Amino acid sequence: MPQFRKGTNDMREVRISPTGHFDNAARPYAHIIALPLSAAMGAEITGADVTRLSDAALAEMQDALWRHKMIYVRGARITHEQHRDFSARWGDFATDAYTQGVPGVPEVQPVIKEAETRTRALFGSGWHTDSAFLPTPPAISTLRSVEVPPFGGDTTWADCALALRMLSPAMQAMLAPLKVRMSAEANIATSLRLEGKALPFASEQAQADAIAGTAHPLVRTHPVKGEKSLYVDEVYACGIDGMTESESRPLLDFLTRHITQHAFTCRLRWEPDMLVMWDNRLCLHLAPNDYDGYRREMYRTTIAGGVVE
Ligand code: SIN
Repeated sequence: MPQFRKGTNDMREVRISPTGHFDNAARPYAHIIALPLSAAMGAEITGADVTRLSDAALAEMQDALWRHKMIYVRGARITHEQHRDFSARWGDFATDAYTQGVPGVPEVQPVIKEAETRTRALFGSGWHTDSAFLPTPPAISTLRSVEVPPFGGDTTWADCALALRMLSPAMQAMLAPLKVRMSAEANIATSLRLEGKALPFASEQAQADAIAGTAHPLVRTHPVKGEKSLYVDEVYACGIDGMTESESRPLLDFLTRHITQHAFTCRLRWEPDMLVMWDNRLCLHLAPNDYDGYRREMYRTTIAGGVVE
């Protein structure tokens, strides 16, 4: 627990130094090797052929995902069917609110920006956890790279469990009973303002439900690990139950700034044939809109989660 001293700028101290609270060290596994990506989170996994992973290696990969929050393998030159089959080993598929599947493999959804595309509202370019407005938001997302820009297009993740642990005991106690309202309304409004159109939803009802949103525990508990983490982001979090807008807004802004400070993040420079997975229950992510003129071709799958507890 961080020590908070009267008269010091504690946030700045947290930013400068993790002060011994980070533990992204690798566990010794029998079938795979985990190579931590940053002090806070993330790990490269080697020794895992995702097309024929033994059950024992899969169990280790799962342990590595819960521990590191985001993991990736290189050299995954796989078909859409292999991507689907690997993903299916992690749980049931969820329907992503926005993306449509590729022909014949609906579970695999393209995330492609063409070299000539110009947009001010790129998919995933704000700090978010996937489809948090749903009553049962997705647990895990996977993303496979086919073509990447020579520079730019990195994805960054932020560790929401570490961020919670680094809050003062007083702040943690205040947040513990709160419910955060997650809605797609502001995201839709931003896209309309910037681009004149919003990302398409599967149906009008799906869009109405996404705008109505859901209230989730602001501090959630991981269903497998039991680890507690902050569940709040800058794209969907729009209020706190029982609070006025002018009470909740500064708190939500503070929490997103806190979670996404540099010390709690890891950043991936993509190369073709990477397969990345992240646990939406434990981290936020952001894909910057910084590679105009270059093509980026990715494919994602989404694994279902349960009611947030
Ligand atoms: C997303 O799932 O938000 C997109 C991530 C990315 O394109 O890097």
